Amino acid sequence: MTVDGTDYTDDVEPRTLLVHHLREALGLTGTNVGCDTSNCGACTVHVDGQSVKSCTMLAIQADGREVLTIQGLADTWDGEGSLHPLQQAFHEAHALQCGYCTPGMIMASLDLLAENPDPSDDEVRHGLEGNLCRCTGYQNIVKAVRAAAVQIRQGSTKSQEVPA
Ligand code: FES
Ligand code: FES
Repeated sequence: MTVDGTDYTDDVEPRTLLVHHLREALGLTGTNVGCDTSNCGACTVHVDGQSVKSCTMLAIQADGREVLTIQGLADTWDGEGSLHPLQQAFHEAHALQCGYCTPGMIMASLDLLAENPDPSDDEVRHGLEGNLCRCTGYQNIVKAVRAAAVQIRQGSTKSQEVPA
């Protein structure tokens, strides 16, 4: 599989979950495990451009596919090492406290904004209802996603590619 633009070839046990493969075999610990039961969304990554809770998918199901994690997100923006607008907006809007949910929130938000580039507060809340923040920082998360939406719309002409 390709993860964050790097090709990996590994033997994996059929029972290994994608999130465990990313964290333990590839050392990509930016993707978190909050529940292991598909409730919290902390493990959200993109597979072939679609957000997926990586604890609900086996590593072997990602065979030959392109995985994007929070650790590769910045590289998809301007190619110059800048944070992705979602990362920047979460930082500026104080949309994190402990930060445990943040990688999953951002990866789910990326999907949300690809489908709806100008969401209302309610649409952000609805789009992120599969992601839990145990610090309950939801108000600022909504603000951050909407701020990032503006940045992405304005910057999409200068960016290499707005990720799907
Ligand atoms: S760890 Fe995957 S949804 Fe909670
Ligand atoms: S910031 Fe702590 S779980 Fe969301």
